[in-house]
Amino acid sequence: MRHFDAITRVPGDPILGLMEAFARDDNPAKFDLGVGVFKDAQGLTPVPAAVKQAEQRLVERQLSKSYVGGHGDAAFGRLICELVLGSASPLLVQQRAGATQTPGGTGALRLAAEFAGHCLPGRGIWLSDPTWPIHQTIFAGAGLKVSHYPYVGADNRLDVAGMLATLETVPQGDIVLLHACCHNPTGFDLSQDDWRAVLEVVRRRSLLPLIDFAYQGFGDGLEEDAWAVRLFAAELPELLITSSCSKNFGLYRERTGALLVCSHDAQKLLDVRSQLAFLARNLWSTPPDHGAAVVAEILGDPQLKSLWIDEVEAMRQRIARLRSGLVEALAPHGLSQRFAHIAAQRGMFSYTGLSPEQVAALRERHSVYLVNTGRANVAGADEARLDVLAAAIADVCR
Ligand code: LMR
Repeated sequence: MRHFDAITRVPGDPILGLMEAFARDDNPAKFDLGVGVFKDAQGLTPVPAAVKQAEQRLVERQLSKSYVGGHGDAAFGRLICELVLGSASPLLVQQRAGATQTPGGTGALRLAAEFAGHCLPGRGIWLSDPTWPIHQTIFAGAGLKVSHYPYVGADNRLDVAGMLATLETVPQGDIVLLHACCHNPTGFDLSQDDWRAVLEVVRRRSLLPLIDFAYQGFGDGLEEDAWAVRLFAAELPELLITSSCSKNFGLYRERTGALLVCSHDAQKLLDVRSQLAFLARNLWSTPPDHGAAVVAEILGDPQLKSLWIDEVEAMRQRIARLRSGLVEALAPHGLSQRFAHIAAQRGMFSYTGLSPEQVAALRERHSVYLVNTGRANVAGADEARLDVLAAAIADVCR
């Protein structure tokens, strides 16, 4: 008897697949606007200097590779809570918030999904339409009913009224996943007034927010990007936050992230965290150490932290320059109005409004790679060749 005969092939991941297709393309003039990684002026995804220095210190100092505990490195957990919630947050003083170290932000989402499936049975989860495709599969895979609220419509505009109207209909107790900043895939973020309106619905409907915070520092700044997270943490009794160090620390492959829980009461937090440790033990046992040790080294040292803050700010400013530069480069083609939203969006990604046919033509005719939904990773563009990119976009828009 053969056991594998009934197994069929599933398509490869569309975002990671673009990385492979780009690597295979031997056109030297190619553009990689696919997977969400930051690139510098040399087209490299650099290891930040603060990370390199922290790694050197760890190599010299580390005496053991024994396991870290179920919640990971305690210093990392404390420092990431401070980074996300603010070092003066009353939640930290009152021990009402804690972090569980996870393999990347995706690991944090997976842990949150398992937590919801095991500890909050019967709750559904509501995702923005559109959202990062893995949100859908992670939560469905954990057995949750997945529904969507409108976010960006067919006109490629933020639909806050539609979002609020749908959230008003969500069953009490359901979970709503919100993007803290730099919405993936669209780049359209809520204003502070919009966030306050969402908070009111969440409170009225007794929903449990899960805020995905994968791009802290890439929107308006490290502190500014945490504004909505901190508002929700201050105003609501309970909150889940997934934090990623992939982008802002450049630690992508080191898989470094955390699931933060905020609770109304320190004792209840311990109950919840006991469940998270149990679930994590069954998922990955204990988390990978290296990236979190690097982050703890940086955030725990004033000199390294200030170097890192400057490096994040430089990445953020480069992305902002790429956004405005691309819109300017589109002007000679009469397209600056049509693509003005690229400069107004935040973070790495832009929902460009290009159709799947135009995306295919960009790839075939110009070796420009973006996701077929029209999502472009602006942070992957080459600043010195924005005119070439603009000409390619103009060609497929004709
Ligand atoms: C992306 O959306 O491109 C990033 O979040 C990377 C990933 O894992 O998909």
